Amino acid sequence: MCGIIGYTGERDAAPLLLAGLQRLEYRGYDSAGIAVLDDGEIAVVKGAGKLSALRDGLEGAYPPGRCGIGHTRWATHGKPTTDNAHPHLDCSGAIVVIHNGIVENYLELRAELKAHGHDLRSETDTEVIPHLIEARMDAGDDLLTALRQTLVRIRGAHAIVAMSKREAGRIVAARAGNAGGVVIGYGDGEMFVSSDLPALLTETQRVAFLSDGEIASITASSVQYVSSAGDRIADKQPQVVPFDPVSAAKGAHKHFMLKEIMEQPECIMDTFRGRAIFDPPGVALESIGLADDVLRRVSRVVLIGMGTSMHAAMLGRTYFERIAGIPAEVDNSSEFRYRRALIGPDTLVVSVAQSGETVDTLEAMADAQRRRAPQLTICNTPGAQSTRIADGVVLTRCGPEVAVASTKTLTASISALYLLACHVGRVRGVLDAARLAERIGALARAPGLVGEVLGLDARVREIANALATHENFLFLARGAQYPMALEGALKLKEVSYIHAEGYPAGEMKHGPIALIDRTMPVVAIALDDGTREKMLSNIEQVRAREGIVVGIVTAGDAELAAKCDFALELPPYEPLLYPLLSAVPMQLLSYHIATKRGCDVDQPRNLAKTVTVE
Ligand code: G6P
Repeated sequence: MCGIIGYTGERDAAPLLLAGLQRLEYRGYDSAGIAVLDDGEIAVVKGAGKLSALRDGLEGAYPPGRCGIGHTRWATHGKPTTDNAHPHLDCSGAIVVIHNGIVENYLELRAELKAHGHDLRSETDTEVIPHLIEARMDAGDDLLTALRQTLVRIRGAHAIVAMSKREAGRIVAARAGNAGGVVIGYGDGEMFVSSDLPALLTETQRVAFLSDGEIASITASSVQYVSSAGDRIADKQPQVVPFDPVSAAKGAHKHFMLKEIMEQPECIMDTFRGRAIFDPPGVALESIGLADDVLRRVSRVVLIGMGTSMHAAMLGRTYFERIAGIPAEVDNSSEFRYRRALIGPDTLVVSVAQSGETVDTLEAMADAQRRRAPQLTICNTPGAQSTRIADGVVLTRCGPEVAVASTKTLTASISALYLLACHVGRVRGVLDAARLAERIGALARAPGLVGEVLGLDARVREIANALATHENFLFLARGAQYPMALEGALKLKEVSYIHAEGYPAGEMKHGPIALIDRTMPVVAIALDDGTREKMLSNIEQVRAREGIVVGIVTAGDAELAAKCDFALELPPYEPLLYPLLSAVPMQLLSYHIATKRGCDVDQPRNLAKTVTVE
């Protein structure tokens, strides 16, 4: 889950590498480092901690050179120290490597390398890679072949980028398994490599993605792709990606998280634009990839995802059942693998992944693929690995999400799942034209209503100021809102480090109620969506134990609002889509509590945006 960047061309590499790393810091930020090749020598600069430590270390004096690689690390093996920071060198300082993944057999390889006289200096698994490459190059291989042969020796999933002073101006990059993406960027007389598309977008939008088992060798003016067997891949062409690099900047907002919360009306609109057809009513999903008769044949749907994406998938289950009339279930991608779910060609697997690179989701998808289940994926990253495994994709059109905690991709994924369920319901004849018109008409109101809810920001900030010192929170809801209770708790944990739990409100009496006293804020989603009466009883039960009630209620519900210590009123809305609205005040609450507590909201401790380790 580390970030990778590389450049070869006519410009000074170091400033470009640092700018790329800045855009990648959300991937991991335990340490960072760059290596630049100049005049036959490699200069390496590293810093423990955030990228600023590396910048401070450089004191404005960037190492010269026009070819270099850089890395931001999220520690797996070895503490986040400067010694353990990437890039790592071989014995002679002629080969330099950055790596994303885990070398599972590194202890064995370390012992072997040491026995052959190699001098390993860090505690990392990565360091075996430059030494293995060194051994191959000493035996006469060129850099590309040496990397290819090294991949045969190391176990696990990897993205590796290397350069050598023996082949000045060349960078080689490999992807093996699902440890993260590798994107090659095509410039004018220059080439780039990165783990993430957004890191390249200010420089180029012409890119090619490496698939599992592919290796690239780039110089300023050439690119060559080979398979792990060494065969040339002649037909790999760059594609032009549509992301607007400006949207990756923070704009006027203090944090990316706030910017991304505020962007939600637009992201929801962009996600259904051109896909929800109003006259005559229809759904047009441009990359659905599955023929109508496949969608008619499936007898159930299994949805998978991790973190926020799993919460969106939970709503997807409701949509498939209620809108498309198909039995649906949902699982955490990781657990899905362990439970060995019974799936086959009659099961539609729908994965949700913002990055499209989360290893557990990719592995679950690979498993579903082996069992010939038709697959669709909801993803925010064009070209990501998940989009290449699935038969079809519904892209959320949010632009890059930079804050580690997902916000805009939650509501866009929910919108995409809703559209997908409408499409499947229509194809299966469950949804007639009139009902479909109502369904998509309801979604079309979401951007305006979410915009209205964002107007609660100042009120949410007041509540956050009042509650920021509490150390435990409970989030309760029922039905379609239950996944949002989980999401509300997840957001608060992620960005403010407060212990928070989300529960189905009906479960409260089976344990969590024992925790409630006057120090416990309880966020209760009690909207006019068919769950109001039962939520009202739960609120009474919390009040009876002197808990602090933050109610998310429907505007005009004076009776409920009066029972809450703090009430946040949402406009009335269609029950199935109400989560698009209720998510927003909880995102704002977490954001404001975290800033009040002085937390680093965009880069919370221990987390990473894209989790490529199991
Ligand atoms: C990480 C991020 C979360 C995200 C989760 C799943 O844990 O911090 O914000 O929800 O990964 O990511 P995905 O890319 O699969 O949606």
